[in-house]
Amino acid sequence: MIISLQNISKSFGANNVLKNISIAIDKKECVGIIGPNGAGKSTLFKIISGSLFQDGGSIIFNDANIDKLSIEKRSRLGISQSFQSNSLFNEMTVKENIMVACSQSFKVGWELFKSLDKRTNIITKSYEIAEEVGLTEYLDFRSDNLSYGLQRQLEVGLAIANNPSLLLLDEPTAGMSNEETKNIVKMVKKLSTYYTTIIVEHDMDVIYSLAKKIYVLDSGDLIFDGTPNEVKNSKLVQERYIGIKQ
Ligand SMILES: Nc1ncnc2c1ncn2[C@@H]1O[C@H](COP(=O)(O)OP(=O)(O)OP(=O)(O)O)[C@@H](O)[C@H]1O
Ligand SMILES: [Mg+2]
Repeated sequence: MIISLQNISKSFGANNVLKNISIAIDKKECVGIIGPNGAGKSTLFKIISGSLFQDGGSIIFNDANIDKLSIEKRSRLGISQSFQSNSLFNEMTVKENIMVACSQSFKVGWELFKSLDKRTNIITKSYEIAEEVGLTEYLDFRSDNLSYGLQRQLEVGLAIANNPSLLLLDEPTAGMSNEETKNIVKMVKKLSTYYTTIIVEHDMDVIYSLAKKIYVLDSGDLIFDGTPNEVKNSKLVQERYIGIKQ
């Protein structure tokens, strides 16, 4: 097992956003989290990555309690959340963006960035990452010249730059065309064979084709967990989530 969430609860004022959530995830598993808007999915991700702290319960990561660890410390342990668009350096190329992310994992300071070209290990690693997220042919493109879909692929590239052992992807296909979605699915399918991946998605076809196991949140409650087939056949999930989806 790589991570175990034990009785996690979180409130914002009177709003009980997560109520006693317990989830255990095995290494190299690809797990999906679904549920209506406001169910608590992103809050759960933030609690795992350390950008928010839970009010109750514990998180065990690789057999260690990480409840008190900052987002930076969790990242060093291997928990990585895909960045939002505004985390890209727009004026930099794809290669440079990935090199900055890699330089952090190689512990090379920012001040050395200008001489990074000489650092072959970082360059080699950057090429590998570009390949993993399907951006090899765009290495010299400025990131703000990429299509929206390719920018999201780059964000995933930044998230895998420090060889995470747990990758959190929050709605990686949001706002994408069918073609862009297909590319992301192909990419995540491959990545999830190396990295334990948790993916939050509203697109059920995406979830069904990626996740081996799916957890369903509704108003902060974990109402169901099962395989894609079990979710498809669950009356409860149909009523509480899929049935109300647009
Ligand atoms: N920082 C915050 N302060 C106060 N309330 C918050 C905060 N973050 C989230 N919430 C509330 O917590 C609840 C769960 O939000 P969350 O973003 O986790 O939902 P979600 O399942 O990710 O929804 P969506 O599918 O729309 O992304 C919502 O009612 C939201 O308004
Ligand atoms: Mg969300």
